[in-house]
Amino acid sequence: MSKAKITIVGAGNVGATAAYIAASRGLGDVVLLDIVQGLAEGKALDMAQAKGVYASAGNVTGTTTWDLTASSDIVIVTSGLARKPGMSRDDLLAKNAGIVKSVTEQIVRTSPNSFIIVVCNPLDVMTYVAAKVSGFKKNKVMGMAGALDSARFACFVAEELKCDIGDVRGVLMGGHGDDMVPLPRFTSVAGIPLAELMPQDRIDVHIERARKGGIEIVNLLGTSAYYAPAAGAVKMAEAILNDTRSIISCCAYCDKEYAIGGAFIGVPVVLGANGVEKVIQLDLNKKESAELAVSVAHVKELVSVVNTMI
Ligand code: 2OP
Repeated sequence: MSKAKITIVGAGNVGATAAYIAASRGLGDVVLLDIVQGLAEGKALDMAQAKGVYASAGNVTGTTTWDLTASSDIVIVTSGLARKPGMSRDDLLAKNAGIVKSVTEQIVRTSPNSFIIVVCNPLDVMTYVAAKVSGFKKNKVMGMAGALDSARFACFVAEELKCDIGDVRGVLMGGHGDDMVPLPRFTSVAGIPLAELMPQDRIDVHIERARKGGIEIVNLLGTSAYYAPAAGAVKMAEAILNDTRSIISCCAYCDKEYAIGGAFIGVPVVLGANGVEKVIQLDLNKKESAELAVSVAHVKELVSVVNTMI
């Protein structure tokens, strides 16, 4: 069986880390693309040399041209500006909309049958841009955010409970922004509802920290996070390529689902060989539904702005 081909657009922190994780996990052959001469080529060469220490099944090829990316199964788009201290994700809208638009046009030309996983901010709007510009079926275009945000929530919960982070299964919805909607009611630790293990005031602390998880790292690093975002994107690619039918919170197209009425927004989905196989409909309570509605309205407002730009 031929190896899967994964193109990662952008050889910055997120893209290069995703390339290295994907190759190390043997997901397939990776093409790492960047417009900066030598950046993708140099990082790919470095990764190839790392195989001299720890063998890995996947190869990474660095390039500045789209030709080598042709007929990719999956394209992960990380080529957007990252925020700096004092910036919100929304501040990146105009610049990243132009980048995602031109990158998507190239994807349509070179890998018309690929799945697109977007990792640029503001995430939900950039996923919309990729879907609109590509014209691909909605199940083939998605954004990575929930995998990151729920991993953050799981990290904070596991730290407090001093338990295996792998046992913490968090569900998170809404836009990838300060108004995201962590759902502790649907979060469990080894099948035990979180509320059985932690008082509400402590849960609220971790919800707030997860909401601000991105800026916490930006303020420490001076730029955005990249290990966890890269891992989230590779996790989604792996679910598609291996048809694992994993349930992962992703930015996916919703219309009748949650009565969202046509937007790309973070929801729990089944990810498999067809991409977004299904949006999982949770029975939200009034508070959760109200928080989701606020987040959806924010994303739709940004979409109306980006529509004047693309
Ligand atoms: C984050 O939350 C980069 O938006 C991403 O870290």
